[in-house]
Amino acid sequence: MNSLVAFYRSTIGKKILMAVSGLIGIGFVILHMAGNLQVFIGQNKINSYGAMLHGPLAEVTWLLRLVLIVAVIVHVLMAYQLTQRSAAARPIDYQHRSPQVSTLASRTMKWGGILLLVFIVVHILHFTTEAIDPAGWRGMTDSQGHRDVYGNIVASFRIWWVALFYIVAMLALGLHLYHGAWASVRTLGFAKPSPHPLHRRIALVVAAIVWLGFTLVPVGVIAGIIR
Ligand code: HEM
Repeated sequence: MNSLVAFYRSTIGKKILMAVSGLIGIGFVILHMAGNLQVFIGQNKINSYGAMLHGPLAEVTWLLRLVLIVAVIVHVLMAYQLTQRSAAARPIDYQHRSPQVSTLASRTMKWGGILLLVFIVVHILHFTTEAIDPAGWRGMTDSQGHRDVYGNIVASFRIWWVALFYIVAMLALGLHLYHGAWASVRTLGFAKPSPHPLHRRIALVVAAIVWLGFTLVPVGVIAGIIR
Protein backbone atom coordinates (compact mmCIF):
# COMPACT_ATOMS: atom_id res chain seq x y z
CA MET A 1 0.00 0.00 0.00
CA ASN A 2 2.80 2.37 0.99
CA SER A 3 4.68 1.66 -2.22
CA LEU A 4 1.49 2.37 -4.22
CA VAL A 5 1.13 5.75 -2.51
CA ALA A 6 4.84 6.48 -3.12
CA PHE A 7 4.39 5.52 -6.80
CA TYR A 8 1.35 7.81 -7.14
CA ARG A 9 3.21 10.69 -5.49
CA SER A 10 6.35 10.36 -7.61
CA THR A 11 6.72 12.32 -10.86
CA ILE A 12 7.56 9.16 -12.81
CA GLY A 13 4.49 7.42 -11.30
CA LYS A 14 2.28 10.27 -12.52
CA LYS A 15 3.91 10.14 -15.96
CA ILE A 16 3.30 6.40 -16.17
CA LEU A 17 -0.37 6.86 -15.16
CA MET A 18 -0.64 9.59 -17.79
CA ALA A 19 0.93 7.34 -20.46
CA VAL A 20 -1.22 4.29 -19.67
CA SER A 21 -4.47 6.31 -19.50
CA GLY A 22 -3.49 8.01 -22.79
CA LEU A 23 -2.89 4.65 -24.48
CA ILE A 24 -6.35 3.50 -23.32
CA GLY A 25 -7.75 6.66 -24.97
CA ILE A 26 -5.84 5.91 -28.19
CA GLY A 27 -7.26 2.36 -28.20
CA PHE A 28 -10.77 3.79 -27.84
CA VAL A 29 -10.41 6.37 -30.62
CA ILE A 30 -9.09 3.74 -33.05
CA LEU A 31 -12.12 1.48 -32.36
CA HIS A 32 -14.52 4.44 -32.49
CA MET A 33 -13.04 5.69 -35.77
CA ALA A 34 -13.40 2.22 -37.33
CA GLY A 35 -17.03 2.07 -36.11
CA ASN A 36 -17.79 5.52 -37.56
CA LEU A 37 -16.43 4.63 -41.00
CA GLN A 38 -19.46 2.34 -41.35
CA VAL A 39 -21.42 5.46 -42.39
CA PHE A 40 -19.78 4.94 -45.79
CA ILE A 41 -21.51 1.53 -46.01
CA GLY A 42 -24.92 2.99 -45.28
CA GLN A 43 -27.67 3.97 -42.86
CA ASN A 44 -28.69 0.42 -41.97
CA LYS A 45 -25.14 -0.67 -41.13
CA ILE A 46 -24.27 2.12 -38.68
CA ASN A 47 -27.73 2.29 -37.09
CA SER A 48 -27.72 -1.49 -36.43
CA TYR A 49 -24.20 -1.16 -35.02
CA GLY A 50 -25.42 1.61 -32.64
CA ALA A 51 -28.45 -0.53 -31.68
CA MET A 52 -26.17 -3.50 -30.96
CA LEU A 53 -23.93 -1.41 -28.66
CA HIS A 54 -26.95 -0.19 -26.71
CA GLY A 55 -28.89 -3.50 -26.89
CA PRO A 56 -27.23 -6.96 -26.72
CA LEU A 57 -23.79 -5.48 -25.94
CA ALA A 58 -25.03 -2.92 -23.39
CA GLU A 59 -23.03 -4.48 -20.50
CA VAL A 60 -19.79 -4.48 -22.55
CA THR A 61 -20.50 -0.87 -23.60
CA TRP A 62 -20.93 0.14 -19.95
CA LEU A 63 -17.72 -1.62 -18.94
CA LEU A 64 -15.81 0.17 -21.71
CA ARG A 65 -17.44 3.47 -20.71
CA LEU A 66 -16.33 2.96 -17.11
CA VAL A 67 -12.72 2.20 -18.14
CA LEU A 68 -12.77 5.24 -20.43
CA ILE A 69 -14.22 7.59 -17.80
CA VAL A 70 -11.57 6.52 -15.25
CA ALA A 71 -8.83 6.87 -17.92
CA VAL A 72 -9.98 10.41 -18.85
CA ILE A 73 -10.16 11.50 -15.18
CA VAL A 74 -6.70 10.06 -14.41
CA HIS A 75 -5.23 11.59 -17.59
CA VAL A 76 -6.58 15.10 -16.89
CA LEU A 77 -5.66 14.94 -13.18
CA MET A 78 -2.10 13.80 -13.90
CA ALA A 79 -1.71 16.48 -16.62
CA TYR A 80 -2.81 19.13 -14.13
CA GLN A 81 -0.56 17.87 -11.32
CA LEU A 82 2.49 17.47 -13.57
CA THR A 83 2.01 21.00 -15.01
CA GLN A 84 1.76 22.44 -11.48
CA ARG A 85 4.84 20.49 -10.44
CA SER A 86 6.98 21.63 -13.36
CA ALA A 87 5.80 25.26 -12.95
CA ALA A 88 6.82 25.13 -9.26
CA ALA A 89 10.20 23.62 -10.18
CA ARG A 90 10.91 26.29 -12.83
CA PRO A 91 9.04 29.54 -12.03
CA ILE A 92 10.97 31.33 -14.84
CA ASP A 93 10.44 29.62 -18.20
CA TYR A 94 13.30 28.48 -20.46
CA GLN A 95 14.48 31.29 -22.76
CA HIS A 96 15.01 28.90 -25.63
CA ARG A 97 13.57 25.48 -26.12
CA SER A 98 15.49 22.94 -28.08
CA PRO A 99 13.78 22.56 -31.51
CA GLN A 100 14.16 18.79 -31.16
CA VAL A 101 11.81 18.53 -28.18
CA SER A 102 9.54 21.47 -28.95
CA THR A 103 7.29 20.58 -31.90
CA LEU A 104 3.95 22.25 -32.65
CA ALA A 105 2.32 19.12 -31.22
CA SER A 106 4.24 19.30 -27.92
CA ARG A 107 3.61 23.06 -27.50
CA THR A 108 -0.15 22.63 -28.01
CA MET A 109 -0.60 19.70 -25.59
CA LYS A 110 -2.23 21.79 -22.84
CA TRP A 111 -4.64 23.89 -24.93
CA GLY A 112 -5.24 21.10 -27.41
CA GLY A 113 -6.05 18.82 -24.48
CA ILE A 114 -8.50 21.36 -23.01
CA LEU A 115 -10.17 21.78 -26.43
CA LEU A 116 -10.49 17.99 -26.70
CA LEU A 117 -12.09 17.79 -23.28
CA VAL A 118 -14.65 20.44 -24.26
CA PHE A 119 -15.16 18.59 -27.55
CA ILE A 120 -15.84 15.24 -25.81
CA VAL A 121 -18.48 16.79 -23.50
CA VAL A 122 -20.21 18.67 -26.36
CA HIS A 123 -19.93 15.58 -28.60
CA ILE A 124 -21.60 13.23 -26.09
CA LEU A 125 -24.38 15.79 -25.55
CA HIS A 126 -24.75 15.98 -29.34
CA PHE A 127 -24.69 12.36 -30.58
CA THR A 128 -25.24 10.20 -27.47
CA THR A 129 -27.77 12.04 -25.30
CA GLU A 130 -28.97 14.35 -28.14
CA ALA A 131 -29.36 17.18 -25.59
CA ILE A 132 -27.54 19.42 -28.08
CA ASP A 133 -29.55 19.06 -31.27
CA PRO A 134 -28.45 21.52 -33.98
CA ALA A 135 -30.12 19.52 -36.76
CA GLY A 136 -33.44 18.92 -34.97
CA TRP A 137 -32.89 15.15 -35.11
CA ARG A 138 -33.63 14.26 -31.46
CA GLY A 139 -35.59 11.00 -31.10
CA MET A 140 -35.65 10.23 -34.85
CA THR A 141 -35.72 6.53 -35.80
CA ASP A 142 -35.14 4.70 -39.09
CA SER A 143 -37.47 2.25 -40.87
CA GLN A 144 -36.19 -0.60 -38.59
CA GLY A 145 -37.11 1.41 -35.48
CA HIS A 146 -33.41 1.99 -34.59
CA ARG A 147 -32.18 5.38 -33.34
CA ASP A 148 -31.20 7.23 -36.51
CA VAL A 149 -27.52 7.95 -35.77
CA TYR A 150 -26.83 8.07 -39.53
CA GLY A 151 -29.50 10.72 -40.15
CA ASN A 152 -28.18 12.81 -37.25
CA ILE A 153 -24.61 12.63 -38.63
CA VAL A 154 -25.73 13.70 -42.12
CA ALA A 155 -28.11 16.46 -40.96
CA SER A 156 -25.58 17.80 -38.42
CA PHE A 157 -22.57 17.96 -40.75
CA ARG A 158 -24.65 19.75 -43.37
CA ILE A 159 -24.59 22.68 -40.92
CA TRP A 160 -21.30 24.44 -41.72
CA TRP A 161 -20.36 25.45 -38.16
CA VAL A 162 -21.00 21.96 -36.77
CA ALA A 163 -18.76 20.44 -39.50
CA LEU A 164 -16.11 23.13 -38.85
CA PHE A 165 -16.18 22.47 -35.09
CA TYR A 166 -15.58 18.74 -35.68
CA ILE A 167 -12.88 19.32 -38.33
CA VAL A 168 -10.96 21.72 -36.01
CA ALA A 169 -11.35 19.32 -33.05
CA MET A 170 -9.99 16.46 -35.19
CA LEU A 171 -6.89 18.57 -36.00
CA ALA A 172 -6.40 19.07 -32.25
CA LEU A 173 -6.88 15.33 -31.74
CA GLY A 174 -4.29 14.48 -34.42
CA LEU A 175 -1.66 16.79 -32.91
CA HIS A 176 -2.43 15.61 -29.37
CA LEU A 177 -2.19 11.96 -30.41
CA TYR A 178 1.05 12.48 -32.30
CA HIS A 179 2.87 13.97 -29.33
CA GLY A 180 1.06 11.82 -26.75
CA ALA A 181 1.66 8.51 -28.53
CA TRP A 182 5.42 8.89 -28.81
CA ALA A 183 5.79 10.53 -25.39
CA SER A 184 3.92 7.65 -23.72
CA VAL A 185 6.08 5.01 -25.43
CA ARG A 186 9.17 6.92 -24.25
CA THR A 187 7.83 7.25 -20.68
CA LEU A 188 7.09 3.53 -20.54
CA GLY A 189 10.66 2.82 -21.63
CA PHE A 190 9.88 0.95 -24.87
CA ALA A 191 11.86 3.40 -26.99
CA LYS A 192 15.59 3.15 -27.62
CA PRO A 193 17.47 6.47 -27.96
CA SER A 194 18.05 7.23 -31.66
CA PRO A 195 18.38 10.32 -33.90
CA HIS A 196 15.45 9.01 -36.02
CA PRO A 197 13.30 7.18 -33.49
CA LEU A 198 10.95 4.56 -34.93
CA HIS A 199 8.30 5.19 -32.26
CA ARG A 200 8.03 8.77 -33.47
CA ARG A 201 7.30 7.65 -37.01
CA ILE A 202 4.78 5.09 -35.73
CA ALA A 203 3.11 7.85 -33.66
CA LEU A 204 2.90 10.01 -36.79
CA VAL A 205 1.25 7.19 -38.79
CA VAL A 206 -1.24 6.39 -35.96
CA ALA A 207 -2.12 10.10 -35.52
CA ALA A 208 -2.51 10.60 -39.30
CA ILE A 209 -4.78 7.52 -39.66
CA VAL A 210 -7.00 8.58 -36.72
CA TRP A 211 -7.18 12.20 -37.93
CA LEU A 212 -8.03 11.15 -41.50
CA GLY A 213 -10.50 8.43 -40.45
CA PHE A 214 -12.54 10.84 -38.30
CA THR A 215 -12.24 13.82 -40.68
CA LEU A 216 -13.50 11.76 -43.64
CA VAL A 217 -16.99 11.65 -42.04
CA PRO A 218 -17.82 15.42 -41.97
CA VAL A 219 -15.90 15.88 -45.25
CA GLY A 220 -17.86 12.97 -46.79
CA VAL A 221 -21.14 14.69 -45.84
CA ILE A 222 -19.99 18.10 -47.14
CA ALA A 223 -18.86 16.46 -50.41
CA GLY A 224 -22.26 14.75 -50.77
CA ILE A 225 -20.75 11.21 -50.64
CA ILE A 226 -22.68 10.47 -47.41
CA ARG A 227 -26.28 11.64 -47.79
C1 HEM B 1 -16.11 13.02 -36.96
C2 HEM B 1 -15.84 12.54 -35.78
C3 HEM B 1 -16.80 11.76 -34.92
C4 HEM B 1 -18.04 11.27 -35.21
C5 HEM B 1 -18.85 11.37 -36.49
C6 HEM B 1 -18.51 10.59 -34.02
C7 HEM B 1 -19.74 9.98 -33.90
C8 HEM B 1 -20.28 9.50 -32.73
C9 HEM B 1 -21.61 8.99 -32.57
C10 HEM B 1 -22.63 8.89 -33.69
C11 HEM B 1 -21.78 8.64 -31.27
C12 HEM B 1 -23.04 8.06 -30.62
C13 HEM B 1 -23.10 6.59 -30.75
C14 HEM B 1 -24.39 6.05 -30.20
O1 HEM B 1 -24.87 6.53 -29.19
O2 HEM B 1 -24.91 5.11 -30.82
C15 HEM B 1 -20.53 8.92 -30.59
C16 HEM B 1 -20.29 8.70 -29.24
C17 HEM B 1 -19.10 9.00 -28.60
N1 HEM B 1 -17.97 9.52 -29.17
FE1 HEM B 1 -17.75 10.06 -31.09
N2 HEM B 1 -17.55 10.66 -33.04
C18 HEM B 1 -16.49 11.38 -33.54
C19 HEM B 1 -15.31 11.68 -32.91
C20 HEM B 1 -15.02 11.36 -31.59
C21 HEM B 1 -13.75 11.60 -30.93
C22 HEM B 1 -12.55 12.23 -31.59
C23 HEM B 1 -13.88 11.16 -29.66
C24 HEM B 1 -12.89 11.15 -28.53
C25 HEM B 1 -11.80 11.88 -28.48
C26 HEM B 1 -15.21 10.64 -29.50
C27 HEM B 1 -15.73 10.13 -28.34
C28 HEM B 1 -17.01 9.64 -28.19
C29 HEM B 1 -17.54 9.16 -26.93
C30 HEM B 1 -16.79 9.10 -25.60
C31 HEM B 1 -18.86 8.75 -27.19
C32 HEM B 1 -19.86 8.19 -26.20
C33 HEM B 1 -19.86 6.70 -26.27
C34 HEM B 1 -20.91 6.16 -25.31
O3 HEM B 1 -20.66 6.21 -24.12
O4 HEM B 1 -21.96 5.73 -25.78
N3 HEM B 1 -15.88 10.76 -30.69
N4 HEM B 1 -19.64 9.44 -31.49
